[in-house]
Formats: sequence, C-alpha cells, structure tokens
Amino acid sequence: MKRFIFSILVLFTGMNVAVAAGDIEAGKGKVAVCAGCHGANGISASDTYPNLAGQHADYIVKQLKAFKNGTDRSNALMSPMAAGLSEQDMMDIGAYYNSLPRTPVESAAGGDATASSAPAAKYEPDPVAGKSLYELGDASRGIGACIGCHGKDGNSDVLIYPNLAKQHPEYIQKQLHNFKAMENRANYAMNKFAGQMTDEEILDIGAYLADTQALANVKPKKVIAVAITAEVLAGEKKAATCVACHGQGGNKPIADYPRLAGQSAQYLVKQLTEFKSGVRANAVMAGMAAALSEQDMTELAAYFAAQKPLAGNGKGSEVGSKIYYGGKVNHVNQAITACVACHGATGKGMAKAGFPSLANQSAEYITSQLKQFKSGARANDKASMMRNIAMKLSDNDIDELAQFVATLK
Ligand code: HEC
Ligand code: HEC
Ligand code: HEC
Ligand code: HEC
Repeated sequence: MKRFIFSILVLFTGMNVAVAAGDIEAGKGKVAVCAGCHGANGISASDTYPNLAGQHADYIVKQLKAFKNGTDRSNALMSPMAAGLSEQDMMDIGAYYNSLPRTPVESAAGGDATASSAPAAKYEPDPVAGKSLYELGDASRGIGACIGCHGKDGNSDVLIYPNLAKQHPEYIQKQLHNFKAMENRANYAMNKFAGQMTDEEILDIGAYLADTQALANVKPKKVIAVAITAEVLAGEKKAATCVACHGQGGNKPIADYPRLAGQSAQYLVKQLTEFKSGVRANAVMAGMAAALSEQDMTELAAYFAAQKPLAGNGKGSEVGSKIYYGGKVNHVNQAITACVACHGATGKGMAKAGFPSLANQSAEYITSQLKQFKSGARANDKASMMRNIAMKLSDNDIDELAQFVATLK
C-alpha cells in the first residue's frame, strides 16, 4: 500500500504532510457508516451507490477530498460524509476498500441494468457500441479513447484513473451526465469527452461497463482512429498565453508569427528548449520560453502538433519550385542542395530526423528564417545544415523559394 500513499502526497496535496501510510485494518474500523450505502463488502446493492471494492486507493482519497472541499465534486449525501474525515482516515479507508475484491453484483448485471434514471427510456442500450466507443473514442468529436486512461476492460493501471469495470451502469451514466452538464463534477478531460457524448452513447457505455467480460470476444466496430491524449489536453490548457501571437490552435493567419499547427512535436520541443537556453536567439520567444518546464514544452508541443494547419499564403514560383526540387548551382559555382532531400516532396519534413515541416507556413516567416540562417542570426541548426545552404542563396532565391514553399500543404 505504501507506494499508493506516496503518489497521493506528490500528486494531490503537493505538501509533505506527515501522514502515515493507509492502514487496511484501521480503515476497516472506519467504514461502518459507509456500509449502509456502499455495502458491507464495498459492493453496493443499490444502483445509485457506486461500488468501492477494488477501486484504487489514490482515487478514493482524491474523491473524498473533492467531496470535502466541494470544489470539483459535490453531492448532498457524500459531502457531509467526507466533511468529518481526516486525511489519515481517507487513506485508511482507501487502503481498505482497495483490498476488497470487485465481484460482480447480480442486480447490477441483471435485466433492468440501464433503466431508472435513463433520459431515453425506450432506447435499447448497445454494449457493443459502448465497447467500440470505449476502445476507439471518436477523434472527429474530440472524444478520447476511454481505454487509454481507464484501461483494458475498465481496469485502469493508473492509480488516479478510476476502475470502471463492474460498476453499476446507473452510476456510470449519472457521472457521465454530471460531467457532461458540468454540474456537480469538474474534471477537464471528462467534461470535454462527456460533453460530446449523446444520451444514447452514455447508455451504451453503461451497458458495456456493467460486465466488460461478457463481451470479451466481440470485435468492436471501428469508429475513427484516435489522436487525443492526456498530453494534448494538458497542452491545450497551457497554450492560452501562446494564442495571442500564434493564434487559436497555433494557426494565426498573421504572417510574422510562425504557424505551429501540425508542426512535429519533436521540433517544437527543440525550438522551445533552445529559445529558453538562448541557442536560438529571439527576445520575444526567450521571454515566453523562460517559464516553461520540460513537461510544459512536451505538452504544448503535443497540442500544437495535433492541430490541423490552415493553408499558407504563397503566390507560387517557378524558380522557387526548381530550387526546392532540384537544387541549383549559383553564380560562384556553389552547389545548393535541393530542399526536397530533407523537407520532403510536400514540405512535411521528417520528424524523426529533426527536419521540420515547412508546409502551410507563411512566405514572410520562411523568408525571415532563411535570411536569419544566411546571416547566422539563427544558428541552432545541427551541423550547420541550414546555414550551409542559406549562405549560398541570393536574396532573390530566398524570395522565390518563400513564395513557392508557402504553397505547400
Ligand atoms: C447515504 C448514503 C451514503 C453513505 C452513508 C456514504 N456514501 Fe459514499 N456515495 C454515496 C453516493 C450517492 C455517491 C455518488 C455521488 C455522486 O453521484 O457523485 C457516493 C460516492 C462515493 C465515492 C466516489 C466513488 C467513485 O467511484 O467516484 C466514494 C470514494 C465514497 N462515496 C466513499 C464513502 C465513504 C468512505 C463513506 C463513509 C465514510 C461513504 N461514502 C458513505 C452515498 C453514500
Ligand atoms: C485522459 C484520461 C481519460 C480518458 C481518455 C477518459 N477518462 Fe474518464 N476519468 C478520467 C479521470 C482522471 C477521472 C476521475 C475524475 C475525478 O477525479 O473526478 C475519470 C472519471 C470517469 C468516470 C467516473 C468514475 C467514478 O467512479 O465516479 C466515468 C464514468 C468515466 N471517467 C468514463 C469515461 C469514458 C466513458 C471515457 C471515454 C469516452 C473516458 N472516461 C475517458 C480520465 C479519463
Ligand atoms: C508576443 C508574441 C508571441 C507569443 C505570446 C508567443 N510567441 Fe512563439 N514566436 C513568436 C515569434 C515572433 C516567433 C518567430 C521567432 C523568430 O523569428 O525566430 C515565434 C516562434 C516560435 C516557435 C518556433 C517555430 C518554428 O517554426 O521554428 C515556437 C515553437 C513557438 N514560437 C512557440 C510558442 C509557444 C509554445 C508560446 C506560448 C508559451 C509562444 N510561442 C508564445 C511570437 C510569440
Ligand atoms: C540537409 C537537410 C536540409 C536541407 C537540404 C534543407 N534543410 Fe531546411 N532545415 C533543416 C533542418 C535540420 C532545420 C531545423 C533546424 C533546427 O533544428 O532548428 C531546417 C529548418 C528550415 C527552416 C526553418 C523552419 C521553421 O519552422 O523555423 C526553413 C524555412 C528551411 N529549413 C527552408 C529550407 C529550404 C528553402 C531549403 C532548400 C533551399 C532547405 N531548407 C534545405 C534541414 C535541411
């Protein structure tokens, strides 16, 4: 149990309060009052009270604190219950419930599994559709795959993500409606996902989670590949300060600010790191990057990389296109490597090799960077890869290249 407790302290209290590890025996002595609703063994006979047996201790503690503080979660029955609990009580109780087996309950898996509080009473819930949404999410609506956080078959490996397997469908549905309405329960990711779910999908998910094993061999129908991760969501929150210049989703149509949408995450992290250290010199971005931790950079990069870029503003250029695809020998007989070799036929670059995407960028920004590489004002390219090329380009080459590159998409 000890490892659970350490992660609680670090993640949620942020304080190093001296609280002993959760004690199963002590917890057992503190749950008499809880049994009336949550069942003597943590399996509740009533559909409206969640099963607590086998739930992660960290998660239980976090919820009890949320009920007690009333900020992220409120419930008329639970708030007074949690009000009297000390942090030590919560840990003991978490440890105790975690130690109990999560056995299925007849009433939960039974025939009336999805009726009572259901908004669409006539709808016949479809557990296969529920499983499909659970495992695949729906990227087109920004619904993350539940399996990514809540684990295969509803058994999560991450201690702060609740186990959902063998939970009462009514309870699951009520929570999803709470998240959806942003009433009584606040959690950034869950508010977002549930906000996009239809009432029918909520019923489907409940039906699936009542007994995930019952469907173990059913192949879910494919919805859409999923790109939303916890990292992307965290990055979106942190990007609030960036949008003033880079625009919503890193897509500002103002030419002087580079488009970040769709750029490779690896390249974005490299640039932020180098703005911060000064290896890439820019007064504005140095200030912006100074406050960012490595984690912030990773999350911001994941967010911007996942956005769909708008088109660039190039007019097109024959001369530029020729240099891009074929390189050129300049007036003093220097060979200029074709851009296509590193930035690719459609300008998408090669993320793994550290070659950024140029597609969808503005002509003004492309020009400014080529000039900076040419003069050496920008010198963060590994092995002088870009400087060696840009120093051989004439100002006219740069203008033509920019007009062409900014048509790539
Ligand atoms: C009068 C009935 C009642 C009693 C007694 C009660 N609870 Fe609850 N509990 C509820 C209800 C109802 C909910 C669901 C609240 C909601 O809809 O958000 C809940 C939710 C919870 C949750 C969140 C579970 C989850 O999956 O998110 C925890 C943890 C919890 N209770 C622990 C306790 C503990 C510990 C005690 C004893 C100190 C206790 N409860 C006593 C009714 C009760
Ligand atoms: C990015 C990670 C993440 C993804 C993806 C995710 N969840 Fe959650 N979910 C959470 C977290 C964290 C909580 C706990 C929130 C809190 O602390 O109140 C939660 C809570 C829940 C709860 C309440 C459980 C309880 O015991 O009260 C339900 C139900 C739920 N999620 C269903 C889903 C469904 C259905 C999906 C897919 C459509 C999904 N989740 C996708 C992170 C995630
Ligand atoms: C005040 C305006 C402003 C704000 C706010 C701002 N940026 Fe920038 N950003 C710029 C400018 C201007 C450049 C181009 C710098 C140059 O010419 O080298 C730039 C360049 C970048 C680049 C390099 C892109 C490339 O293609 O090489 C990244 C990455 C970046 N910004 C990320 C961010 C992030 C993340 C934030 C928020 C934390 C942010 N910026 C906030 C103005 C801003
Ligand atoms: C040998 C590989 C290579 C070739 C060939 C090459 N580049 Fe690059 N280019 C790079 C690398 C690597 C970077 C990123 C430098 C860094 O890490 O900051 C880059 C960066 C750039 C950038 C800055 C992008 C941004 O978002 O800030 C522009 C613009 C650019 N290249 C244009 C060109 C053009 C135009 C050509 C052809 C004339 C060309 N490159 C040829 C490797 C190459």
